Amino acid sequence: MAGMTDSAFRRLVKRQGGCGLVVTEMVSSEGLVRGIDRTLEYAEFTEEERPVAVQIFGGDPEKMARAAQEVEKMGADIVDVNMGCPVPKVAKHSAGCSLMREPEHAAKIIKAMTRAVSIPVTVKMRAGWNDREVNAPELARMLERVGAAAIAVHGRTAAQCYTGRSDWDLIARVARAVSIPVYGNGDCIEPTELLQRLAETGVAGVLVGRGVLRNPWIFAQAAAVSAGQPAPEVSLADRGRFLLEYIDLLLNQRLNEPKGFRHQATTVDIWQDDEAGLAQDTAEDIGRACENGGPTFRPDESLAHAYPPARGRQRWVINKVRALSAWYTRGLDGGSHLRVAINQTESIPALRQTIASFFFR
Ligand SMILES: Cc1cc2nc3c(=O)[nH]c(=O)nc-3n(C[C@H](O)[C@H](O)[C@H](O)COP(=O)(O)O)c2cc1C
Repeated sequence: MAGMTDSAFRRLVKRQGGCGLVVTEMVSSEGLVRGIDRTLEYAEFTEEERPVAVQIFGGDPEKMARAAQEVEKMGADIVDVNMGCPVPKVAKHSAGCSLMREPEHAAKIIKAMTRAVSIPVTVKMRAGWNDREVNAPELARMLERVGAAAIAVHGRTAAQCYTGRSDWDLIARVARAVSIPVYGNGDCIEPTELLQRLAETGVAGVLVGRGVLRNPWIFAQAAAVSAGQPAPEVSLADRGRFLLEYIDLLLNQRLNEPKGFRHQATTVDIWQDDEAGLAQDTAEDIGRACENGGPTFRPDESLAHAYPPARGRQRWVINKVRALSAWYTRGLDGGSHLRVAINQTESIPALRQTIASFFFR
């Protein structure tokens, strides 16, 4: 998910268990082929995440084929094509969901890609463009014929964006229309919903988007329930540790990683201004220090000015945590206060203390 499921987040989700496959944020085929640093960074993944799919978007068959080759060279297990993004910036260039309106062209892209690489080429689509153009079953059949190895369907149209509900009856129809695996997607928030969809629709698997941003334990909980065990409880402290570990992973990425751990298209290192020392402060240390922080959460306003504002990589980390916290704090008692406090935080030490005083109270 663009802006959200970076390598650090994906690793942490995998560590909780139950997750079979992770997908990178979508990356532009143009950027991959031209070697644009930012794009290459979004495509990075680590050994720990396998199996991993790199998702690309674009509308030019030749460029998409070349981008797929880049993805294969990086060592990814799967290259996935985005045919679901409704955002005009993507969809206006015969890419993302607008490919669903040009099925012949979409098939050309998949054909060019499957000829160019030996790793599986998969497709993520929506139900269709709008309620008069719902064509996921037909498009899935066409793409199967030109070599797509699997299809994922988010059961809303592009016009719906995120309104209404994902149409799981339609997803089931797609699953019946093809013989390759079909993965269903949309609105699974509770672990039991995932299992229910699996049981009812004949899909090979379920993709979870927003649900995992709120609850990274959703797959582990679903796996436990499916094995007849109770879903593992996640305490407030577990949730706090997750965020602190996320900060540590982001701060430490590319520093002292073993050879072969991180897969990049080229050597990118835009963070030359590191103060690696801060990253030594591990999540556990902070957690221990704050375990007696008191029963209620009171944002500490003095924190805002206690440290110099972050720059460079640290500023980027703060922004990443802010983005995640918009989802992660939903439904938590006092979550909106925490969100406000995190959004006011300008330094890594203050961010850690804010998180610790909320989750380790
Ligand atoms: C912030 C955000 C970013 C997303 N980025 C992508 C993306 O890069 N590629 C993609 O295929 N879908 C992307 N999606 C769509 C989700 O993968 C998913 O299809 C959609 O949210 C519905 O599933 P859910 O109800 O489980 O969230 C994104 C969704 C959100 C909210």
